[in-house]
Amino acid sequence: MLGTRGGWQALRRCASLPQVVRLRVSEALGAQESSGEVKVQGWVRSVRSQKEVLFLHINDGSSLEHLQVVADPSLENRDLTFGSAVEVRGKLVKSPHRRQNMELRAETIRVVGACDTWTFPLKMKERHPLEYVRQFPHLRCRSNTLASLLRIRSEATAAIHSFFQDNGYVHIHTPIITSNDCEGAGELFQIETSKEAKEKTQFFNVPAFLTVSGQLHLEVMAGAFTHVFTFGPTFRAEDSQSRRHLAEFYMVEAELSFTESLQDIMQVMEDLFKTVTSTVLSKCPRDVELFHKYIAPAQKDRLEQILKHKFVTISYNEAVEILKQASQTFTFKPEWGCDLQTEHEKYLVKHCGEVPVFVINYPYDLKPFYMRDNEDGPQHTVAAVDLLVPGVGELCGGSLREERLPFLEARLQRLEIADAYQWYLDLRKYGSVPHGGFGMGFERYLQYILGVANIKDVIPFPRFSHSCLL
Ligand code: 4AD
Ligand code: MG
Repeated sequence: MLGTRGGWQALRRCASLPQVVRLRVSEALGAQESSGEVKVQGWVRSVRSQKEVLFLHINDGSSLEHLQVVADPSLENRDLTFGSAVEVRGKLVKSPHRRQNMELRAETIRVVGACDTWTFPLKMKERHPLEYVRQFPHLRCRSNTLASLLRIRSEATAAIHSFFQDNGYVHIHTPIITSNDCEGAGELFQIETSKEAKEKTQFFNVPAFLTVSGQLHLEVMAGAFTHVFTFGPTFRAEDSQSRRHLAEFYMVEAELSFTESLQDIMQVMEDLFKTVTSTVLSKCPRDVELFHKYIAPAQKDRLEQILKHKFVTISYNEAVEILKQASQTFTFKPEWGCDLQTEHEKYLVKHCGEVPVFVINYPYDLKPFYMRDNEDGPQHTVAAVDLLVPGVGELCGGSLREERLPFLEARLQRLEIADAYQWYLDLRKYGSVPHGGFGMGFERYLQYILGVANIKDVIPFPRFSHSCLL
């Protein structure tokens, strides 16, 4: 099969041969006129039949734009409808239309798979709301919005890998099945085989779970590589139907050794965000434009401004003071020692000018066992950081890790989990170094840059409480 570049290169190579070259729609749209025959395969997005001419629009997922096919009305057939799969052979010619470079003059049209338009949930030329297409996870990738989203998601994934690889990080496949609860929040999916439930046996001899974070395994690797990252599925059994929680989501995590300052970690978070966003904006301009035009109109200008300016940093103490002085009344009264609620995060972001805000140094008792003790007075904090962004709230969470054996040992003992974490304590016995890292929720990242209100619309197959379609 010819790939995106392959198809067009083959067309150039074989221009003089009577061979049919398969082109993707994106290649056909960017092609030069040629006398050779080409074939394009895809799904029909519109059919317009006139007395003298038949017009089709074909899409194959390679671009937001469709390829216009111009054919003799004699090529029309009953199965050639919106949604059907077709193979069109013909010649590429310059299009007379200003908005399109090339069109395909069809010589043959073969319907590969018919589509029953009466029952097909998508309708021709309709801009279906995201809530509507969400009901059809097996078909919504054929709508413009979801197809654009999935192309952007694919580019953003590649940009994240490039960012880390270009900066000397080693990619680690951290396990999906694990025996630890990294965050200690008890939001675990426990794994058992179908036999286990009946026979009371245990496959792994210990309770096993789907991972809530690859951090602890990354910390192992940061003891040998200094800069590591992982980017994979993460699972949380949060019984939440909120527009920013999923039971299965993707998390990008990085861990850096020989790092004594939280600022170093925050710099990587900011660089990652800015580099990946710039890449996505330049690689998928049309797909991003669709979101910025129809879904979040002011988002483009805001993003461009954000990319030019440094993110704001405030401490947790400052955050609480800002909230206490707010004219707004909150459902949860802000007090030192309380977790920041969504309403608080929203207010803080607004207070700082609707830009990304780092909140640093959270109360010791609020955060997981692995965070580094700041050893500061009565308002005892750890070196933690959350990155809050407009419209979404928490995008990233990170910290310096407690690398000092006595501190870590004491904390694990107080929590009565020291036995399970002997291996983690070992890391502090054998060449321990100051280190830290963070995790960024990939779906929340996409939500933020594209201005998508509901997280269920930025992942191909959303899983959340009471819903596991397909
Ligand atoms: O803040 P969290 O829980 O941090 C950790 O798991 C750290 N161990 C990461 C690290 O330091 N390596 O999760 C990180 C991010 C959140 O800021 C949020 O963006 C996202 O993961 N996230 C979710 N996204 C979608 N659905 C959920 N249920 C999420 N829970 C967290
Ligand atoms: Mg967090």
